[in-house]
Amino acid sequence: MLRRAGLSLCHFSLGRKSSTARSSHSSQAKMSKPVQAQRLEGIDKNIWVEFVQLAATYSKVNLGQGFPDFPPPDFLKDAFVRAVSGQSQALHQYTRAFGHPPLVKVLAQFFGKLLGRDLDPMTNVMVTVGAYQALFCCFQAFVEEGDEVIIIEPFFDCYEPMVRMAGGTPVFVPLRLKAPEAGRLMSSADWGLDPAELASKFSERTKAIVLNSPNNPLGKVFGRRELEAVARLCVRHGALCFSDEVYEWLVYDGRQHLRVASLPGMWERTVTIGSSGKTFNVTGWKVGWAVGPDRLLRHLRTVHQNSVYHCATAAQEAVAQGFQRELELYGKPESYFMQLPRELQQKRDYLVQSLAAVGMKPIVPEGTYFLVADISEFKSDVPEDPSSDEPYDSRFAKWMVKNKGLAAIPLSTFFCNAHKSSHSHFLRFCFAKEEGTLKAANDILQAWRREKSSP
Ligand SMILES: Cc1ncc(COP(=O)(O)O)c(C=O)c1O
Repeated sequence: MLRRAGLSLCHFSLGRKSSTARSSHSSQAKMSKPVQAQRLEGIDKNIWVEFVQLAATYSKVNLGQGFPDFPPPDFLKDAFVRAVSGQSQALHQYTRAFGHPPLVKVLAQFFGKLLGRDLDPMTNVMVTVGAYQALFCCFQAFVEEGDEVIIIEPFFDCYEPMVRMAGGTPVFVPLRLKAPEAGRLMSSADWGLDPAELASKFSERTKAIVLNSPNNPLGKVFGRRELEAVARLCVRHGALCFSDEVYEWLVYDGRQHLRVASLPGMWERTVTIGSSGKTFNVTGWKVGWAVGPDRLLRHLRTVHQNSVYHCATAAQEAVAQGFQRELELYGKPESYFMQLPRELQQKRDYLVQSLAAVGMKPIVPEGTYFLVADISEFKSDVPEDPSSDEPYDSRFAKWMVKNKGLAAIPLSTFFCNAHKSSHSHFLRFCFAKEEGTLKAANDILQAWRREKSSP
C-alpha cells in the first residue's frame, strides 16, 4: 500500500515536474504569439490620447478637442431630467434595439421632410451610440477584404482605422487648395476636389466613398456641383456613400447644407449619419443615427444588434423631445437649429480676427465649429527640425500648449501617413466655446504678438 503510495507519489511528483516544464514551455510559446488581432496592427496609436492628455496637463485655454464648453439648450436638459426622474420606469430599462420608438418616429418625420420622401421609422432610421458607431456599423456591414473605400482628405481621423479594421483598403483623394486672390483671407471654399483626380480613384474595387460635409477639420461645405460629381461616380461604379453630416446645422453666411441622399440615384446607395452631440451640443450623450434605405440599414442592424444592442434609453427620450420641438419650430427664428449657427458664426468671426491679428492666417470655415490656421510665420518660435520624423505642426502644437497654455490640434492628424508632411503648417482650433474662453485665447495670442514684436 505504502509502496504503492510511494510509487504513486514519486510518479506524481515526476509527472508534476514534467507537466510544469511542459506548461512553462507552452506558455513561452503562447507569449511569443502576438496578443492583438492582426487587424489592429498600425492603428494602435491615437493622437487624441496624447493631445487630450497634453491639454489636460498644460492648457489654460483648450481649443483642441471638438466639444462646446457652454451648456446645451434648457429644453433638452429639462427633457433629460424629466426622462430620468419622471414616473415612467420604462425609461430606465432597455428599449427597442434599433432605436427608442419616439426617437425613430420623430427622426423619420424630420429627415423625411428634409429629404422629400416618406421614411419608415422602423426600417429607414437606426439610432446608434453617437455618429461614431453609425460609421463603425457601415464599415463592418459593407466592407470586405479587398474592397476599396475612398476617403477625402483631410478627414475625420477614425475613417481610416475603421476601414482597415473591416479589412478594406482606404484610397485617399485630397481637397486641393486654390490660392485665394491677394488681400483676401483664405476660405474653406478655396479647397476643392479635382474632378479628374476624384474619378481616377474609382474602380471596380470601390465599395464606398465617405463624404463629410460640412467637413471636419476644414469647415468646407460641399456645393451642389461637387456633390453631383460624387453622385455620378457612385452611380456609375455601383459604389455606396457613407455621408457623415454631423455638422449639418452649423453652416454660416447664409450657405445651405445639401444632403447627398437627395440627389438623383443616391437615396438607394447612401447612409446618412447624424449626431445629437453636434446638433444639440451634448457630445457626452452619445446619441447618433443612420438614415437610409432598408436594403442598407438592415445590415447595419445586424452589426448593431450583435455589438452594442442599443443606446441609453433616457438620452434617446430627451433627444426625441428635442427633435419634436424643432419639428414644430422648423424654419422659425426660435428654432435652436437656426439660433445655434448664428451664435457660432459670431464666435468664428471673433477667432478669425484674433488669429489674423497675430499672423496665424485663418482659413474661414463655411461650416462646423472648427477653424484651421496657417502657422508658417511662426518658425522663429519653433524652428524646423529636419532630423525629426514628427510633422512640424505636431511639434508646434505641443510647444504651444506647453509654453503658451493654448491647445489646438495639428492638421496633419487629419491626413494619412503618406500625406502628413505635406500639410504640416496648420493647426485646427475649435470655436464652440464661451465668450470668456475665446477672450482668454485672444489674450494669449495678443501677448504672444507683443512678445514677438518687442526688440
Ligand atoms: C466628422 C465627425 N463625424 C463623427 C463624429 C462623431 O460624433 P459622435 O460624437 O456623435 O460619435 C465627429 C466628432 O467629432 C466628427 O467630427
